[in-house]
Amino acid sequence: MATRRRSIAAALASFFFLLLQLAAVSHGQLQVGFYSQSCPNAEAIVASVVRQAGASNPTLLPALIRLQFHDCFVRGCDGSVLIKGGNNKAEVDNNKHQGLRGLDVIDGAKAQLEAQCPGVVSCADIVILAARDAVAFTGGPSFDVPTGRRDSKVSNLRDADSLPDVKDGIDVLRSKFAANGLSEKDLVLLSAAHTVGTTACFFIQDRLYNFPLPGGAVGSDPTIPPGFLSELKARCAPGDFNTRLSLDRGSEGVFDTSIFRNIRNGFAVIGSDAALYNATSTVDVVDSYSGLLSTFFGPYFRQDFAEAMVRMGSIGVLTGKNSNGEVRKVCSKFN
Ligand code: HEM
Repeated sequence: MATRRRSIAAALASFFFLLLQLAAVSHGQLQVGFYSQSCPNAEAIVASVVRQAGASNPTLLPALIRLQFHDCFVRGCDGSVLIKGGNNKAEVDNNKHQGLRGLDVIDGAKAQLEAQCPGVVSCADIVILAARDAVAFTGGPSFDVPTGRRDSKVSNLRDADSLPDVKDGIDVLRSKFAANGLSEKDLVLLSAAHTVGTTACFFIQDRLYNFPLPGGAVGSDPTIPPGFLSELKARCAPGDFNTRLSLDRGSEGVFDTSIFRNIRNGFAVIGSDAALYNATSTVDVVDSYSGLLSTFFGPYFRQDFAEAMVRMGSIGVLTGKNSNGEVRKVCSKFN
């Protein structure tokens, strides 16, 4: 009898161990390797399309990282940002998505996937896989991402109003991230994606020339050090919306921690990055990754960034158990 009880206990223990292991690889209803049976080459196809796009135009890689943020922060990671048409009433037509690029890369990957596994791989997942690959191809970490998202059947212009803005102060940024289940640490880590890529002068015009000052006056953001202000003004003349400049001064093409030191030293280019140094809690996070010693003793930016990308990738996902959602045939159109 005692032997039988022991073997039942052992069987239960291994069952719970198995459950724990499953929980470790699945995030909600998403799962690493979701397409391993249904479309075994799915991740390889996306990676090869992203690699080719990056080889012919390296600026597309940062654009693809940004695309994940813009998809996930509006209605969740559901591909809603990819829908085009509809008399300028689609989500993508919102000004908040100004300068968004890389949508054609997603369409290209989808076309190849449809040829191999029709109706299987969602556009929402392609966005996530492409961003993951773009991080690795710019020299960032390589990491697994869970998949299994479905695509939205909705795309509304006004839904994107809630996206964070360069003019948001630290409290607004924190609350917009919190509304998506992300912490202040995630806010700092994910903003550090600005270690790669560029911004159009459009986004810093007001910071340079139209910043509200005490007494109702306007001028330049007084937190910008004078030398850097002259540098920015020389690059972005009043009314110049199109010139592009590095978000991570002096280290645009490389995925590294210099963005944290730039923020700490007043060299943040866009206002929302500068704002990260305006509250003790986010200052602490910036500082913790700024020190060169953190490369050796932690906290480890590369690992923590990867984990934050996975968390952002889980916002508001539609999965098999939701009755809404579909797997689009073409990413820019509902079925
Ligand atoms: C905290 C709120 C954020 C704001 C206000 C913000 C704002 C911006 C702006 C204004 C640009 C320049 C866009 C252009 O001119 O094309 C930009 C670029 C970029 N953003 Fe953010 N961003 C934020 C968070 C994020 C997050 C969470 C990610 C991804 C994890 C991200 C990734 C990028 C990348 C990689 C670029 C460069 C794009 C390129 O070179 O085409 N951003 N961001």
